[in-house]
Amino acid sequence: MRLVLFGPPGAGKGTQAKYLATHYGLAHLSTGDMFRAAIKEGTPVGKEAKSFMDAGKLVPDTVVCGIAGEGIEKAGLDQFILDGFPRTIPQAEWLDAFLAESQADNYVVISLKVDTELIVERLSNRRMNKITGEIYHLTYNPPPIDLPAEVLLHRSDDQPEAIRERLAVYEADTAPLEAYFKGKNRLKEVNGVGEIEEIFDRIKAMLG
Ligand code: AP5
Ligand code: MG
Repeated sequence: MRLVLFGPPGAGKGTQAKYLATHYGLAHLSTGDMFRAAIKEGTPVGKEAKSFMDAGKLVPDTVVCGIAGEGIEKAGLDQFILDGFPRTIPQAEWLDAFLAESQADNYVVISLKVDTELIVERLSNRRMNKITGEIYHLTYNPPPIDLPAEVLLHRSDDQPEAIRERLAVYEADTAPLEAYFKGKNRLKEVNGVGEIEEIFDRIKAMLG
């Protein structure tokens, strides 16, 4: 099974990708998580990505495609879920060409639909476990009370200004991909509003 989770920042891609990866036995490949790991390790890719990410801008396509391609190859090309990649038309064209080389370009794109107001509320209240990558929301999915505060990360791009920039970048560079995927008959839209488990059930029902 090859899946792509698509949607604006805060749509719930990471949250649903974790559930889907466990349920279907897929490698969860999040380019955002890969960059955050690279920044923590201080690698050249991490150093290049950091300023773009902190400002809410997209990391250049060549850097992203390189890191995504490595992840897909490691996963073995047929059991993966991509979270947050591709998010520009050149990235999608690159992915199609890359997978086509191995006759593996028959993936399904799950597009999570969520309104902007809800997105801002979700992102401002998101926290992540620095060690495990677990995603929390202070109200809807609160971290365990015994988790030490220093383990909880408030992402630097979850500040109001960076959130606004990410949403603008999404509209300008990423939203046009919906038409691209539709044209290739890959796009499946799922309502991303509701309880986390309920949305997971919707996706499973859609996948059949
Ligand atoms: P990335 O880490 O991918 O960030 P993003 O796309 O902005 O998406 P988020 O991770 O913010 O949101 P999400 O959809 O995963 O939502 P989540 O499940 O956490 O990328 C970060 C940066 O890296 C980019 O800005 C860019 O610089 C760079 N980058 C990465 N990929 C790139 C690419 N392909 N090209 C170029 N640059 C790239 O949920 C959000 C919150 O809502 C959480 O608190 C969660 O608990 C809560 N929540 C989730 N579902 C529900 C629900 N149903 N009800 C209530 N709350 C919910
Ligand atoms: Mg995410």
